Parts: sequence; C-alpha cells; structure tokens
Amino acid sequence: MNEQYILGIETSCDETAAAVIKNGKEIVSNVVASQIDTHKRFGGVVPEIASRHHVEQITMVIEEAMNNAGIEFSRLSGVAVTAGPGLVGALLIGVEAAKSIAFAHSLPLIPVHHIAGHIYANRLVTELQFPLLSLVVSGGHTELIYMKEHGHFEVIGETRDDAAGEAYDKVARVLHCPYPGGPHIDRMASEGEATINLPRAWLEEGSYDFSFSGLKSAVINTVHNAKQRGETIKPENLAASFQESVVEVLVEKTIRAAKEYNVKQILLAGGVAANNGLRTALRKAVAELENIELIIPPLKLCTDNAAMIAAAGSVFYEKGIRADLTLNANPGLDL
Ligand code: KG4
Ligand code: ZN
Repeated sequence: MNEQYILGIETSCDETAAAVIKNGKEIVSNVVASQIDTHKRFGGVVPEIASRHHVEQITMVIEEAMNNAGIEFSRLSGVAVTAGPGLVGALLIGVEAAKSIAFAHSLPLIPVHHIAGHIYANRLVTELQFPLLSLVVSGGHTELIYMKEHGHFEVIGETRDDAAGEAYDKVARVLHCPYPGGPHIDRMASEGEATINLPRAWLEEGSYDFSFSGLKSAVINTVHNAKQRGETIKPENLAASFQESVVEVLVEKTIRAAKEYNVKQILLAGGVAANNGLRTALRKAVAELENIELIIPPLKLCTDNAAMIAAAGSVFYEKGIRADLTLNANPGLDL
C-alpha cells in the first residue's frame, strides 16, 4: 500500500488538464481538454474566455482523471497544481480546485512552477541523471536550465524578447496559418527549402541568451518587400528558412552549454519541443557527443498537460514542498 499517487492540475493557459501519476513515473490517467478551437477564431488566446472555459471544464476533467485512474481521492498522496506563471484568471481556476480537493480530503497541496512541469515531463520517459541541461522552448519561455539535483533550477540563458513559440505563432500569422501556428510552420518547413537568407541572433560571444524578434521582423520584411516588388515567395521556403534559423541557434547554444557544464543528460521541454526540425537536429548533434543522453518527451507530453505537473509534484512532495490554503496564483512566479 505504499504506492504514491499524485493528482496534477494544470490551467495556466488554454488547456484544462488533470492527471494521476503513480510513483513519480507512471501515468495512470492523463486528461486534457483543449480550448484551441475556441481561441482560433481570435488568432490567439483570449484570457477572459480561457478562464470561463476552465471554470466549465475543471470539475469534469478532474473527475475523468480520477475515474480513469480508478482510485478514490483518499488514496492520493497529494495534489500538485500549477501556481504560475501564466494567465492569472486561468491559473486561479486550477489553484482553487486543487485547494478545495486538498481541504476536503486532508491532502498535502504541492505548488508547481509551469516550467518545472515541462522539464519533469522527461521523468515520465526515463530516470533523470544529474547534472543535466534542459532546453525549455514554449509559447511563453525560451530558457536553458542547468540542474545539479532534483528541484534545483539554474537559468543560464533565456530569451531577451520573444519566446521561440511566440515567434513561431507570429510568423505563422504573417503566412496566414491558424492559431497556434507552430505545428503549421513545422509542417510547411518540411515541404520547403531554406533558400531565403535570414539572420541568426548569436548575441555576444559566450552568451547563452536568445533573441527571436529580429528574425521575426526579417520574415515580416521579406514578405512585405516581395509584395511591393510584385514577387511571389513560396511560403514553404520561408517557413523552412525561419525554422532553420531558430533551430540552428537553439541547437548550437544547447550543445555548447552541455559541454561547458559537463552534463550527463540533455532534456527537451515545452510546446516547441514537438517541432520535428528541432527534434531531428538535436538528435543529430547529440549523437556526435560522447556520454550525453538526449531525452525528448512524446508529443503529447511536450505541449501543456497535467501529467508533467504531477511528475514534478511527485518529486517536490518527496522533498517536503507544501503550500497551505492561502496559496494564490502568481502569473510572474520565478522558477
Ligand atoms: O508549452 P506550450 O503548450 O504552452 C506554453 O506553455 O506556452 O507551448 C505552446 C507553443 C505554441 O507557441 C505553439 O505554436 C508551439 O508551442 N508549438 C510548436 C509546435 N507544436 C507546438 N512550435 C513549433 N513546432 C511545433 N511542432
Ligand atoms: Zn507550457
């Protein structure tokens, strides 16, 4: 009877999600109610609408996760919830639901940072070995994070402007793709050739920071100039050129940091980790290194889900990390 079951809850953006994880690594249920179709009409996430959808969905999603797991709330060791960062109104729904369950069933409440969740999605694939480096690329974040042990996060590089996913979504809009644009650009890139010369933002020598706004502007200017000259650009080629620039910088900086920090593993995390170009290029680059293992979560665990929140919650539970019922959503939470 000493199995550990953690219920995870995630509502930071446009997915209402709940999942149950057994002993930190085994997914016993994983429910995600996506709102993408609703927000598509507006070309992006509308915070007020996201909150309303979370309110409508949260009880059903949690119930389904518990039913699929086939356990009672009383069998849980704790409830883990995304406390931030994210949209404040969206986060609040998950936090209040988690607090209610923790209170009603006298369960420990475990606050989880959304990015810690993305990183710990990798523990659902294989055991983590430290020190490790994680490349986190999502709609809101682009970070290189060094970890020397569980729960220790050192940000060694981050974006100075747009996040990688944000750049994907903005470029997609220019190419008239629906929201979220990342998967569309990814598919188009595979059908085109990187024939258009676009910049790479390496920044100062030795820097592990990123910048994508210059690249995004270069794509917009390319489209604009072509229109003015009456030329046509094959959108697939523009997508391929954009993706090549993003992937080249992400992979080069990740490999350089992995060598400098002498890590045992490289973890890929966040929604953009679903990108085929990035997955392929990183696999190829890591294959040339000795003694570094690359972990890439399956697509379902790359984009927002609650299994990753429960996976992080399981580790934090063992470390004794708890919140009381005054826990509040924090849209600007630090890792
Ligand atoms: O982690 P996530 O689900 O939500 C945030 O925490 O932001 O990431 C969503 C982001 C979006 O910007 C989406 O366009 C991007 O991940 N994304 C992709 C792909 N799949 C999702 N970007 C590039 N290629 C993909 N295949
Ligand atoms: Zn995310």
